[in-house]
Amino acid sequence: MQLKDQAVIVTGGASGLGAATARRLASLGAKVTVCDLNTKLAESVAAEIKGVAVTCNVADSASAEAAVAAAEKAHGPARVLVNCAGIGVAKRVIGKEGPSSLADFERVIQVNLNGTFNMIRLAANAMSKLDPLDTGERGVIINTASVAAYDGQIGQAAYSASKGGIVGMTLPIARDLAQFGIRVLTIAPGLFLTPLLAGLPKEAQDSLSAAIPFPRRLGHAEEFASLAAHMVDNPYLNGEVVRLDGALRMAPR
Ligand SMILES: NC(=O)c1ccc[n+]([C@@H]2O[C@H](COP(=O)([O-])OP(=O)(O)OC[C@H]3O[C@@H](n4cnc5c(N)ncnc54)[C@H](O)[C@@H]3O)[C@@H](O)[C@H]2O)c1
Repeated sequence: MQLKDQAVIVTGGASGLGAATARRLASLGAKVTVCDLNTKLAESVAAEIKGVAVTCNVADSASAEAAVAAAEKAHGPARVLVNCAGIGVAKRVIGKEGPSSLADFERVIQVNLNGTFNMIRLAANAMSKLDPLDTGERGVIINTASVAAYDGQIGQAAYSASKGGIVGMTLPIARDLAQFGIRVLTIAPGLFLTPLLAGLPKEAQDSLSAAIPFPRRLGHAEEFASLAAHMVDNPYLNGEVVRLDGALRMAPR
């Protein structure tokens, strides 16, 4: 699908991988709505790319519905949804004060997994009503999992479960939405230099990089954005999860 003049929604678009994706897709001519909990940062990214910012909690059905409607009002129904909103919380199953809290586990699932599905169901519904393009495509949905879906580390039970859920639902949703010409893909990033990791001291960044076979460095958010743009462009990619990790396999800790 050509991105020129297409309406695009990027969740988590205010920061890191989402912001880089919003910038890349806008540079290819897309009309981008940046949906994020962080209003201020979302507005600043949107202003930079001449897009629109919408404050949104992807994990809340009313908030997500309002965000999809606001995006549609600004640019028309979105042909492309990129789900980047996510949180990472590390907790051992048994801590110093006993079993870890169920509420903490549920919160990660609620944002990362349920939030991704919430946005998919709403955006796909609007896409399904669009006219197909010459390629037969009505839309493209790209989700963000993590290599933790496959080799999660100690403390990542909730995070890995949430990302494993995204990996697991990629094919069934692609099969489900095939009848509408909507493709569904997931990127499973390794370690990327986003604000989270950029805040670590250089030694800590170097030690993370040392585990990455090649290139021996953290990923650049632009490399994630480049894969997202290719996924939109290539009509034969569908129902697949692509690891983007420099051949990294995470150790237990
Ligand atoms: N950075 C990495 O190395 C890495 C590796 C693997 C996977 N990921 C995944 O990539 C995605 C983006 O990560 P990042 O590193 O860019 O993080 P980030 O913290 O820089 O960006 C995440 C954005 O999501 C927003 N967000 C959080 N909860 C939200 C909610 N409920 N509703 C709407 N917006 C919400 C935040 O405000 C933030 O702007 C996440 O899903 C993360 O799990 C990142």
